[in-house]
Amino acid sequence: MIRTENVTKYFNRNKPDELVAVRDVSFEINKGDFAVFKGPSGSGKTTLLSLIGCMSRPTSGRVIVGDRDVSRLPERFMTEVRRNTFGFIFQQFNLIRGVTVCDNVMLPLFPTDIKPSELRKRTENTLDNLNMLRRKDFLVQKLSGGEQQRTAIARALINNPDIILADEPTAHLDTHLSEEFLSMMKKLQEQEKTIIIATHDPLVYEKEYVNLVIEMRDGMVRQITRKG
Ligand SMILES: Nc1ncnc2c1ncn2[C@@H]1O[C@H](COP(=O)(O)OP(=O)(O)OP(=O)(O)O)[C@@H](O)[C@H]1O
Ligand SMILES: [Mg+2]
Repeated sequence: MIRTENVTKYFNRNKPDELVAVRDVSFEINKGDFAVFKGPSGSGKTTLLSLIGCMSRPTSGRVIVGDRDVSRLPERFMTEVRRNTFGFIFQQFNLIRGVTVCDNVMLPLFPTDIKPSELRKRTENTLDNLNMLRRKDFLVQKLSGGEQQRTAIARALINNPDIILADEPTAHLDTHLSEEFLSMMKKLQEQEKTIIIATHDPLVYEKEYVNLVIEMRDGMVRQITRKG
């Protein structure tokens, strides 16, 4: 479902501050995998997520999503693949302050030709599934940590993506909320979604249901461990 072939990503190519963030990386992630990119700070985890999620293009090598080579797609097709395929959960959740839960959750759908009534229904269903419907008109800064987390998950699910990409989702959560987050991801995996998490949190990568660990070091794959 996702394949990288000898992917290399430079930043500031041919400039004095040139840097290779990811070097010659090849791996495969299958539909329904619960995968982790593991590795120390600066090892290339976020860069890999953004390459897979069609937020940036590799300098060389290929990124295949589904049966599509996305590594050289023009921007508007990248946007299309991104919107149809991925749900993103960022570190600290990146919610927009001063805006309601509902509006935050709808955001990935815009611009859209979905009817406003349909849009509202979809958003409310998604929030309801996460037990967040009663908070729909709250400003996000008034939410508890756990509610912010569920808002971020609702936003990642609003376009019904096949693949969830999460970047250090537990970095600012206590153990209880981290466990809750992971059990929600586990449920999504059981609904046939593919989960990919970049993290250096052992609480995440030591979970028995994580079936694929791609360990990064200095932009290179150090080890790939697959169970089942
Ligand atoms: N936009 C950018 N411009 C220049 N260099 C970048 C950019 N993004 C990342 N880098 C560099 O690429 C390398 C890999 O960064 P990346 O963010 O992928 O690491 P990471 O494994 O996610 O680290 P962390 O655990 O700290 O989040 C780092 O040396 C970083 O400084
Ligand atoms: Mg990172």
